[in-house]
Amino acid sequence: MKYVALTIAAAAVALTGCGQGGSAGKADGKELVVGFSQIGSESGWRTAETNAARAAADQRKVDLRISDAQQRQENQIKAIRAFIAQGVDGILVAPVVATGWDQVLREAKAANIPVILVDRQIETSDPNLYLSAVTSDQVLEGRTAGEWLVKTVGGKDCSVVELQGTVGSSPAIARKKGFDEAIGKAPNIKTVVSQSGDFTRAKAKEVMESAIKSLGNAKICAVYAHNDDMMIGAIQAMKEAGLRPGKDVLTVSIDAVPDIFKAMADGEANATVELTPEMAGPALDMLIAYKKDGKAAPKWHQTPTKLFLPDTAAAEYERRKTLY
Ligand code: AHR
Repeated sequence: MKYVALTIAAAAVALTGCGQGGSAGKADGKELVVGFSQIGSESGWRTAETNAARAAADQRKVDLRISDAQQRQENQIKAIRAFIAQGVDGILVAPVVATGWDQVLREAKAANIPVILVDRQIETSDPNLYLSAVTSDQVLEGRTAGEWLVKTVGGKDCSVVELQGTVGSSPAIARKKGFDEAIGKAPNIKTVVSQSGDFTRAKAKEVMESAIKSLGNAKICAVYAHNDDMMIGAIQAMKEAGLRPGKDVLTVSIDAVPDIFKAMADGEANATVELTPEMAGPALDMLIAYKKDGKAAPKWHQTPTKLFLPDTAAAEYERRKTLY
C-alpha cells in the first residue's frame, strides 16, 4: 500500500483537535466510537466496502456507527451533525458528491472531531477541514481503462458509449477526465453517448437500452462504465438487443467485483480496473494513531489501481466471491 503525503503541513494544522472529542457511550470492550456516513448500497462494491468497514472496526475494537444516506447528501449532513452531537471520537465520510461540505466540516472541526474521507474526494476551500482522505487515484482509473481500450482497438474506428457515475461525484468527474485524456490520443476513438447511470445496474441498463435504440447495434464498438455494476446492467441490455458483449462490443469498467469476473470468465466482458473496498481499515488506523499519539496523518492515503483481464477472471471470481 502506497502512502502519498500531499500536504503534510495541512495535516499538521488539522492536528489541533488531537486528544479531544468523544467516546460518548461506547459499547463494551470498544476503545473508540467512530461514526461512518456511508452513501448507501447502490453497487456491489459499496456493500463490500460497508462489510469491510464493519470487519476493520471489529479488529480494531472500534464501536463503528454506520449511517446509510440512501444516496442523499442532505442525509449525510444530518448524520454528521448527529455524530457530532453524540460526541464521537472521529467521523468517516464517503461523500456522495464533491461539493457542499465546508459548513458541516467546520462544525466537526469546531467540536474537535477529526473527519476522514473514504473512497471519494471533495472540493473544498479549506483542506484543513478534514484530517485525511483514503481514496484511489480516480483519474488514473479512467486513464487505465482508456489506455486499455486504445491498445485493444488498434487503428480501427470505434464509437464508445460511456456510462457515468453519480453526477457531481468525484469518481464520475475524475474517471471521465482520465478516460478522455487517454482516448484523446487516438483520433479513431470517439465517445458518442455519455450519460449517468448513477452507479446502479438498473439505471445503466435503461441508458444502454436507449443508446442501442438511437445508435443501432452496428455503431457501438465499446462500452466504458464508471463501475462494474453499471456494466452488468449494460451487458444485460446488449444481450437483450442481440449483441454479444465481450465479442461484438468491447467492455471496460471499474471496481473488480466478483460479478464482472464471472462475466469475463463467460466471455461477456473484457476488462476491469480494481478499486479495493478496504478503505475503512487504513482510515481507522490513522484515526487511532492521531487520537492516541497525535500522529500526523498523510493528507492522502492512495489505494492501488490494477487492470484485470479475462486470463485471470475464473480464478479471481473464485477468490473474491466469498470475500464480497
Ligand atoms: O466511490 C466509489 C464508487 O462508488 C465505486 O466505483 C462504485 O461502485 C460506487 O458506487
